[in-house]
Amino acid sequence: SEIGLLNRINEHLFLSSGKMLRPLLSLLVSKACGASNPQISRVCAAASEMIHTATLLHDDVVDESMYRRGKMTVNALFSPGASLLMGDFWLARAIKLIVSHKCDYRIISLFSQTIEDLSEGEMLQMQRAEDCDTTFEDYREIIFRKTASLFIAAMCTVAVVEGVREFAYKLGLCFQMRDDILDYSSTVTDGKDVGSDLAERKITIPLLCAFENCPEREEEIRSLIREIDVTKGADQTRNTEIIKKVRQYVLDNHGVQSAKSRLNGYISESVDSLGILPDTPFRGYIASIAQILSM
Ligand code: IPE
Ligand code: IPE
Ligand code: MG
Ligand code: MG
Repeated sequence: SEIGLLNRINEHLFLSSGKMLRPLLSLLVSKACGASNPQISRVCAAASEMIHTATLLHDDVVDESMYRRGKMTVNALFSPGASLLMGDFWLARAIKLIVSHKCDYRIISLFSQTIEDLSEGEMLQMQRAEDCDTTFEDYREIIFRKTASLFIAAMCTVAVVEGVREFAYKLGLCFQMRDDILDYSSTVTDGKDVGSDLAERKITIPLLCAFENCPEREEEIRSLIREIDVTKGADQTRNTEIIKKVRQYVLDNHGVQSAKSRLNGYISESVDSLGILPDTPFRGYIASIAQILSM
């Protein structure tokens, strides 16, 4: 870009890269399905990582996150506005890349559907953080839109095989469930904030499983979460006390263990759905990516 500030922020972003899981999956699926145009597959792979970067820049504003990939977020180091505008810039560059390679209507349509889903997923999550009424069905809807949708685009833009969508959908759900389980751990993973979901009144899989295991206290716990004050300058002593109580409830009712076994079950289902792909080593690599998400 010709804009100095924008380039400075990009330099900061390039100091630490992510796992690049989505482009990796794109390229493997493209190989596994014998895609006819490898150049277009590479464009789709790159676009999926660019859109992912954009959503993280936006997500860190929504979540007021301080750390990402072991570094300060653009949100914290520069400003929330800068993070939003950078996200827009990356989205635009992804679209420009797709258009400049004359990708077909189907690809453009899949990526634009994803961008819409990503905003809707984050919005639905925000709505549920207000009422704290999140059910399993709401949770599935949120993680489908905010995470699985981009997994679908990353893999379906490079392959027309019917069953790929099913696998991408399931793997995307698993990926977010794993992230939400890790948010309950006591050590920093992936160089980002932990314990922040509950602090933001997000009801995710470990807590939903605890509700299932101990429904007698579900309403009491939901009411407690509604008392968490997310406004700036709120009484943090009270917030900390509530979070401690809720975490203890999750611990006492094996929420994390149940969530892990549910996750492992979904992972096996996702691997089973890979049977539709031709039997090549690439199919095996894709399956092994799904398997390393097990906990
Ligand atoms: C983080 O995704 C956001 C989620 C969907 C949980 P990744 O874990 O793929 O992030 P990076 O790109 O590797 O940092
Ligand atoms: C995933 O949700 C964010 C997106 C899919 C954009 P989280 O808010 O849990 O992701 P992290 O934990 O910040 O990476
Ligand atoms: Mg976040
Ligand atoms: Mg998270």
